[in-house]
Amino acid sequence: MNGEKVLVTGCNGFIGSHLTLQLINAGYQVVGLDILPLTEAQNVQSLNTNGHFDYIVGDVTDKALVDSVIDASFSKVFHLAARVGIERYMENPIDVVRTNVVGTLNVLEAAIRHNCYLFFSSTSEVYGKNPNVPWAEDDDRVLGSTSFERWSYSSSKSAAEHAVRGAFKQQNLKGCIVRFFNIYGPGQSEAFVVSRNILLAAKGHPLVMHNTGSQTRCFTFIDDAVAACIKLVQDANTNGEVYNVGNNTEHTVLQVLNTIIEISGKPLTIETIQTSDNFGDAFEDIMRRVPLTSKIYKAIGWEATTSLHEGLSKTYQWAINQKG
Ligand SMILES: NC(=O)c1ccc[n+]([C@@H]2O[C@H](COP(=O)([O-])OP(=O)(O)OC[C@H]3O[C@@H](n4cnc5c(N)ncnc54)[C@H](O)[C@@H]3O)[C@@H](O)[C@H]2O)c1
Repeated sequence: MNGEKVLVTGCNGFIGSHLTLQLINAGYQVVGLDILPLTEAQNVQSLNTNGHFDYIVGDVTDKALVDSVIDASFSKVFHLAARVGIERYMENPIDVVRTNVVGTLNVLEAAIRHNCYLFFSSTSEVYGKNPNVPWAEDDDRVLGSTSFERWSYSSSKSAAEHAVRGAFKQQNLKGCIVRFFNIYGPGQSEAFVVSRNILLAAKGHPLVMHNTGSQTRCFTFIDDAVAACIKLVQDANTNGEVYNVGNNTEHTVLQVLNTIIEISGKPLTIETIQTSDNFGDAFEDIMRRVPLTSKIYKAIGWEATTSLHEGLSKTYQWAINQKG
């Protein structure tokens, strides 16, 4: 704080942009790095006139660029840049692996060289299809064959976690890793179940549900997730650790869609599509994804406090103000 300079990679992303804003509000000087030119970086464009924010266009897989950006003036690096979303990892696993592995190695090596604290954003996808929920941080990864592209994201984040954990242990790098669980809220791209359906509801269109809607997720409102990230990096006890960041209340996708309909006040219907129609039979949906959150609660007293209804209502308010 007090003008402490930090870097946020993927700063224009959904989580990155909310984190950037809250870091500025908390008194940090933020440099944001994202692959998008500022003219397309709609989530942070308005911050560009803020004296506590600078924007750099760059690709984290470009080692020379990363080396030129990261130096000892940064106390912390929040590494969020990644290729995210089912469509991306089904269609372009090379890009997913390159960004999540090569990009993370570039950022990690520069952080080691300049002794910058590293916050690495991983994912609940690393647990794969482990049926034994809730998942504790040291629980097994249960993944399918590499013949199925859907595991490229999980595998790439797991490989990156190994590298980051290695640096914590062997190079005395300071930092922590979080595994986010289904974060949602204003500003999320429409590729995800909540954002897609909230945007559809705002336009008065039918909602779309994959399969039976009986899959459960622990939907976590963005403000809760960002509060966890900032608390984690401010507490030295979290150093070298991995934490689940998720709400521990489980909801089915159908419950979420019905809540969106109720909030919209419109007589909306739900259309069903089969995941196999989009991604083939090889796509395995994960039926339950539930974090154990006792570790983060013990460490920093954090737990998600925004109810599904409250978070969806705030997201709906954002959606009805969107053009198009
Ligand atoms: N949203 C979630 O529910 C969720 C869940 C688990 C993990 N995560 C992790 O959190 C992080 C942020 O996710 P998000 O939901 O904000 O995703 P996002 O797609 O909204 O943001 C990612 C950002 O990274 C940027 N980016 C992509 N490739 C880049 C590159 N090569 N160089 C520089 N920038 C690049 C994109 O332009 C984008 O702005 C990611 O690391 C993701 O894996 C998110």
